[in-house]
Amino acid sequence: MRGLILSGGRGTRLRPITHTGAKQLVPVANKPVLFYGIEALVAAGITEIGVVVGDTAEEVRAAVGDGARFGARVTYLPQAAPLGLAHAVQIARPFLQDHPFVMYLGDNFIPGGITAVVAEFAARRPDALILLKRMPHPERFGVAVLDGERVVRLEEKPARPSSDLILVGVYLFQPTIFEAVDAIEPSARGELEITDALQWQIDHGRAVIPHLIEGPWIDTGKMDDLLECNRVVLDMLPERREGTVSEDSRLVGKVILEAGSEVRGSSLRGPCIIGERTRIVDAYVGPYTAIYHDVVIERSEVQHAIVLEDTVICDVPKLEDSLIGRSVRIARSQRRPQAYKLMLGDHSQVELP
Ligand code: DAU
Repeated sequence: MRGLILSGGRGTRLRPITHTGAKQLVPVANKPVLFYGIEALVAAGITEIGVVVGDTAEEVRAAVGDGARFGARVTYLPQAAPLGLAHAVQIARPFLQDHPFVMYLGDNFIPGGITAVVAEFAARRPDALILLKRMPHPERFGVAVLDGERVVRLEEKPARPSSDLILVGVYLFQPTIFEAVDAIEPSARGELEITDALQWQIDHGRAVIPHLIEGPWIDTGKMDDLLECNRVVLDMLPERREGTVSEDSRLVGKVILEAGSEVRGSSLRGPCIIGERTRIVDAYVGPYTAIYHDVVIERSEVQHAIVLEDTVICDVPKLEDSLIGRSVRIARSQRRPQAYKLMLGDHSQVELP
């Protein structure tokens, strides 16, 4: 079996972070979310992986490389524009050839992995196997209607969903899917929808079977979901202490310190992770916080947040429920007039107390 990971697209819901970077590379517990998907495929025994890339191709290539570090072989499949998930399948055809494959959306996270579902697909050999989950607000996703064990209808982000079963971003296909993706027309939003290709298969008597997942699943495309994903992963990770901690610091609960990190005069309450070469000085870092590499947090309090690399946060009394980008500087100044002085990228969001 082959793997197809989608890492193109625009990531508009994570702006401004995604103005300058791929949404699939935003770190969750200090590891790009895309890596969890690659690891899930490899754990299921799938090591020939095609990665669909768009505008952020260079950044994705630099992060993932040839796949050797994951025990996989990665082939990059450039997509000229994000014309839809079914379009991605079309352009991947020369790579996929006649192999059955798993399509995995690069911003999805399934803590339980996909090993069991890959085994089910191999044993039952349907044309397609789709993962479904009961979710509030199904209108934000693809929605499936079942008749017992049979999938009877699929709709992409319907205004009035007919069920609360949504399509999780992992699909298993036989090569029969190519006929379906070639047969459909672009949707109202101008994309070739995989949901429509699956509906085409159902309408043409092909076997499309559902697999309901009970455990957590997260589409990390929005900030709140990304923070939730960070929480779930931090709960799962083992403790690691590769940094240095001064005697006057206090670490409570699961605190992960990556190589070269330094904690001085600070209080850290886990689960949290502090990245490589990051310095926490006279500060408090609270639960469910991931501070990435080369960050400085000084005389500040941060919790339930993700902070990206090279950022400096000084003299900020309380920062929480936040996603802070790369090379950001947040500091307090004594200069007059005492005012909020901001330089924010397009689509930034600031909430003041
Ligand atoms: O997350 C689950 C949902 O994913 C499903 O419930 C929906 O049925 C499915 O259409 C999809 O909806 P999204 O609107 O969340 O898809 P998004 O545009 O975010 O794209 C998903 C991933 O695929 C993302 O990592 C970007 C990548 N992508 C997307 C498109 C449209 C590509 O690589 N190429 C593309 O052309």
